[in-house]
Amino acid sequence: MNKPKKISSLTPIEAAAEAADLRRQILHHDKLYYQKDAPEISDAAYDALRKRLEAIEQVFPALATQDSPTQKIGARPAREFAKVRHAVPMLSLANSFSDEDVIDFFDRVRKFLHLPDDEKLEILAEPKIDGLSCSLRYEKGLLVQAATRGDGEEGEDVTANVKTIKTVPQKLPKGAPEVLEVRGEVYITRADFEKLNQAQAAAEEKIFANPRNAAAGSLRQLDPRITEIRPLRFFGYALGEVSEAVAATQEGIRRKLSQWGFVVPEPETVVDSPSSLLKFHARVYEERPTIDYDLDGVVYKVNSLDYQKRLGFISRSPRWATAHKFPAEQAETILHKIVVQVGRTGTLTPVAELEPINVGGVLVSRATLHNEDEMARKDIREGDYVIIQRAGDVIPQVVKSLPARRKKSSRPFVFPDRCPECGSLAVREEGEVAKRCTGGLICPAQAVERLKHFVSRTAFDIEGLGDKIIREFWEEKWIKTPADIFRLAKYAETLKEREGWGELSVKNLLEAIEERRTISLERFIYSLGIRQVGQATAKKLAQHYQNLDHLLSQMKECRDREGAAFQSLLGIEDIGPSVAEDIVGFFAEPHNQHAVKDLQRELTVKDFERSKTVHSPVTGKTVVFTGKLLKMSREEAKAQAEALGAVVASSVSKNTDYVIAGEDAGSKLKKATELGVKVLSEDEWLKLAPP
Ligand code: IVH
Repeated sequence: MNKPKKISSLTPIEAAAEAADLRRQILHHDKLYYQKDAPEISDAAYDALRKRLEAIEQVFPALATQDSPTQKIGARPAREFAKVRHAVPMLSLANSFSDEDVIDFFDRVRKFLHLPDDEKLEILAEPKIDGLSCSLRYEKGLLVQAATRGDGEEGEDVTANVKTIKTVPQKLPKGAPEVLEVRGEVYITRADFEKLNQAQAAAEEKIFANPRNAAAGSLRQLDPRITEIRPLRFFGYALGEVSEAVAATQEGIRRKLSQWGFVVPEPETVVDSPSSLLKFHARVYEERPTIDYDLDGVVYKVNSLDYQKRLGFISRSPRWATAHKFPAEQAETILHKIVVQVGRTGTLTPVAELEPINVGGVLVSRATLHNEDEMARKDIREGDYVIIQRAGDVIPQVVKSLPARRKKSSRPFVFPDRCPECGSLAVREEGEVAKRCTGGLICPAQAVERLKHFVSRTAFDIEGLGDKIIREFWEEKWIKTPADIFRLAKYAETLKEREGWGELSVKNLLEAIEERRTISLERFIYSLGIRQVGQATAKKLAQHYQNLDHLLSQMKECRDREGAAFQSLLGIEDIGPSVAEDIVGFFAEPHNQHAVKDLQRELTVKDFERSKTVHSPVTGKTVVFTGKLLKMSREEAKAQAEALGAVVASSVSKNTDYVIAGEDAGSKLKKATELGVKVLSEDEWLKLAPP
């Protein structure tokens, strides 16, 4: 784009022409934004257009017509929905892909519940709808709020839009609980989707890639009048907050939902063996082409709500349910080029750049090749015809190449020995599948990827700091370490003048950053991007160390691998020697110490908050289970202890408060006696921490 002329040097004719052009552009973008939910330019670029028009009108007041977009007050209003915090988190489902996974699920549940062999375990199965999950809140029988899932804790308020959906009851019949949250899926049938796209094409409007995208685009409209004319529907399949129990089984919930006027997914079955589940899965898969909405699998749910309660959750998904996915969709295309990407911990990942192709309704142009060995094993080369597949929301993969159709000139891909981003040596440590860039701090790719991780949705969740902007600010040297993000305000004036930015977008960004100056300990730990430390491990660390100062001082002590601190770290559930080494190694690195200290100056890191309402004699205590328990499975005992706020460790140290010794307890019991740790029998424990 040419640099715009100084306004003072425009002739009146030039000014009039430019103003007219700007108005046309602004109106065009307003339409895309408001009516089609498909903006083509950033908010910042839009602000820049308005700013230029305003400036011209100021110098040439005759051009400031009544109907100019500048006469509307303010810039385009924040295109945002209000946030809604879910009273009960909206979780996701663990996936099963194979028959074995389903058998494992069934056995795992039985084992957790400690079910005797002659006791049946009922499972309800129903289709998994590929739409958008939504939570509908009814109070005194009236629909008062509807929210999208969001990150599971907080979603967007789409009440006005959901009220336009015909299959959502506005009012519940008498007898429904005072407070009732119904969870389900908003979707569009395939027939309606075709019709919608035809209408869109006729009106020269956006064509949707698949019914799911169409449903998402239609639900997230700022103008509910548009949602109203879109053919959205709703299936109910679960409950959130309820003021009173409504059923004893999942099947009972389905029945109630129907009575209250909701449509529930069909077909449905209740069975008590994995083989029957598999049969149902096969049946639905077979019927899939005749079903008028997109399904991506079958959901299995433990039928008894009492069992569901006992089973509880692990990380973000319930132990009592699993999604049995349908086989991945495959397609054939050409692999143009193999590029090697560098991740935040230096891992080199080969990625295939493909001739774009539609796989099960999604346009795919890149797919992962996993690592050097995989690629060599499958003999995948540039220029090959390849089969790719996509399953659910996982990254598309290259399954195999079709060597028969290969050109004579084709050569195997030579995996680089050096990092493509910084040129440092790339090495592969023993036992690892991936080559890793040794550039560490000097590698720009690693630095940028770490920053991207830091601001990502599951970490600091800073809106407006997308990948491109992070890279730009990094190249500008405005952000070198995470703490620099919190000092961006000093560049505000410079930024405002930039192409693509404006007053409003800078203000929004700085506000989004300010909102994150206070953060939970677990998010903080996760954000650091320590190798092998995902959300679940970060939470365990937060729970174990309680506050940041304690964590940091313990990490110092951990440098003595024989000492009590390192043993205590190893004692945390699921933290083995390799993870422990990565954690301690991270905090031993002076650069990381500096980065953390720097962050501490900018932030308030909150102490670990245990799940609100629990006050029990075991809250905050560290406990170890050993030997065979008789009343419940080891796993249930652990889960229940954690629910009461106890920290369950896997080895005994002087920090252990209680050792619960079942039958035939061995070395851990011995160690507890030696260290003088209090030992409880299973019954004593149950008295102290009743379920
Ligand atoms: S039950 C605790 N039943 O799949 C979670 N979910 O991939 C209870 N979904 O987040 C969910 N059809 O949005 C359930 N029949 C069904 C479903 C279903 C689709 C969605 C749901 C969930 C996602 C997980």
